[in-house]
Amino acid sequence: MSSAEHIKITVENIEDSRLPQVDFSNLKFGQFMSDHMLVANFDNGKWENVKIVPYGDLSISPSMSALHYGQAIFEGIKAYKFPDGRVSIFRPDKNWERFNRSASRLCMPEVPQEIFLDGLKQLLSLDKDWVPNQEGTALYIRPFMFATEAALGVHPSKSYTFAIITCPVGAYYSKPISLKVETNYVRASEGGVGFSKNAGNYALSLYPTQLANNQGYDQIMWTDAKEHRFIEEAGTANLIFRIGDSIITPHGETILHGVTRRTIMELAEKWGFKTEQRLVSVQELIDGIESGEVSEAFAAGTAATVTHIDRIGFNGTDYTLPPIENREFSNKVLNYLNELRYGRIDDPFGWNFII
Ligand code: COI
Repeated sequence: MSSAEHIKITVENIEDSRLPQVDFSNLKFGQFMSDHMLVANFDNGKWENVKIVPYGDLSISPSMSALHYGQAIFEGIKAYKFPDGRVSIFRPDKNWERFNRSASRLCMPEVPQEIFLDGLKQLLSLDKDWVPNQEGTALYIRPFMFATEAALGVHPSKSYTFAIITCPVGAYYSKPISLKVETNYVRASEGGVGFSKNAGNYALSLYPTQLANNQGYDQIMWTDAKEHRFIEEAGTANLIFRIGDSIITPHGETILHGVTRRTIMELAEKWGFKTEQRLVSVQELIDGIESGEVSEAFAAGTAATVTHIDRIGFNGTDYTLPPIENREFSNKVLNYLNELRYGRIDDPFGWNFII
């Protein structure tokens, strides 16, 4: 863990809140940032200059290494408003842990709890009025870190900026999605960086996703890099299937270990379903859709929450999944997660971090 002694967070309040400009009845994902942001600098081996300031531009050097060599990672977390007005962040400790795993893989410094978690709580206390309360909405939290050393040699940067910005959001996907099984391009390979949430994983997805969009699909179903035989992820989210009576999520080091995915698998287990993290082949999926064994398929992620999949395209043929209203598990888990995260039921797991 990087040195974090005596971390003090200074606060500069915004003069005029931009809150009145937000149309909370029409929230688009990631378009309107909240009043404040947290910014911290890593230099000379330590974190310093940790501050909460009005949201605004950052100044960068054109030779800053993140722009050239891609040392850049991020997280996605959500905060919800309870009926009594309290604000709760969903499992941010798990995102903090994953963020630091991403950091280690990219030779970046870990961010201490005092900055990531305590700083986030302080930021949200200030911007709590930005947390929307309508069903399906949340405050999306985006912690990120990038390399700032102004030098063109390829080596781990000596300096970094960590920041947290937030924005009120509605649904990322407003309806069920269709996926194209990708059999040409790859997202990640063994020994690579698929498990980490680094910016490059998203950059490489843009072109194949554009091709899939042009063919009428919303997103890509990524497959393994060697044979395109095993299923990995759905666009920018994890995948979960119900096959027979099992709730199954693809397994492997190329897959991002999503907090929503983990939460859903934990709930499935608690509710007595058989759960499996294992390789799932495209053929098993297609055969299962045709035989009726695959009764549910959905994307799981912070932004996506639970997004039903209605159609899967493979080698030019479309396979249609059962009607959404018949999907017992995914509807139940989405409903339960909403009840829990909006604070309408007790939280027996300690997943809600109330600020
Ligand atoms: C998230 O679910 O938070 C993500 O990272 C997806 C995002 C790239 C929209």
